[in-house]
Amino acid sequence: MSAPARALELAGASVLVFEDAASACRHAADRIAGVIRDAVGLRGKAVLGLATGGTPIPIYDRLVALYQAGELSFADVSTYNLDEYYPIHPSDPNSYRAYMHRHLFGRVDIAPNRAHVLDGTVPDSFADAHAAEFDRWIAADGGLDLQLLGIGRNGHIGFNEPTNLPLETALNLPTRLVDLHPVTVADAAKDFGGESRVVPRALTVGVAPILAARSILILALGAGKAEAVTRALTGPMTPSLPASLLQSAPGRVTWMLDAAAARGLG
Ligand code: PGA
Repeated sequence: MSAPARALELAGASVLVFEDAASACRHAADRIAGVIRDAVGLRGKAVLGLATGGTPIPIYDRLVALYQAGELSFADVSTYNLDEYYPIHPSDPNSYRAYMHRHLFGRVDIAPNRAHVLDGTVPDSFADAHAAEFDRWIAADGGLDLQLLGIGRNGHIGFNEPTNLPLETALNLPTRLVDLHPVTVADAAKDFGGESRVVPRALTVGVAPILAARSILILALGAGKAEAVTRALTGPMTPSLPASLLQSAPGRVTWMLDAAAARGLG
């Protein structure tokens, strides 16, 4: 496995910088495979929080390759995805349920009742109840061994968007229904065929359950993420840049970056 070009400690996090995106993703997949093997060895099961978007696709491809080579099994793995558009049907190709089926669930030996994605079809009046139930499922499963994250250009994690809430309130945000931020809508426009067609709301795992994970692995690739990465790692902890809230979990967060995303780190 290609070693990181640089390893830094910043804001209580371990920051690994790789020469390119492919090396970062290979390293991330191997870290996830290691967490699965360790947790299954110790407790008989592994519990993962998973992410969608462009960034994790090569990570899922490598996890599938390890499965196909007989080096990794998902038979004792439970997964909880970070977010889902709302409302959306699972068969909609833009749903994150469909994404996860395409990139991972449909290609490995995970049990259907262990691969959890927030449900974009629940009635409006029960969306908050469903979100709260998702947090209870994670807790009942023993909590997350690892939470995989991407970062938005606006610094969001999951669909926890920038907010003016007081810090304590932001750190305690539960899983819930949210409105998407304009930057998030702009970035999703290519998938939906135009900004006006982007589903404007989503269910997202909250800041509190993300921070409760036993380990957090956050990937950022490309120059478009450099500003958010720099602010999250060198700026103050602020709800206006949700990824900076990871500073409240010192010793449990690893950032994996390519050189372009790391260019503001000096
Ligand atoms: P991306 O999204 O992987 O498609 O860049 C990351 C995010 O918005 O969290």
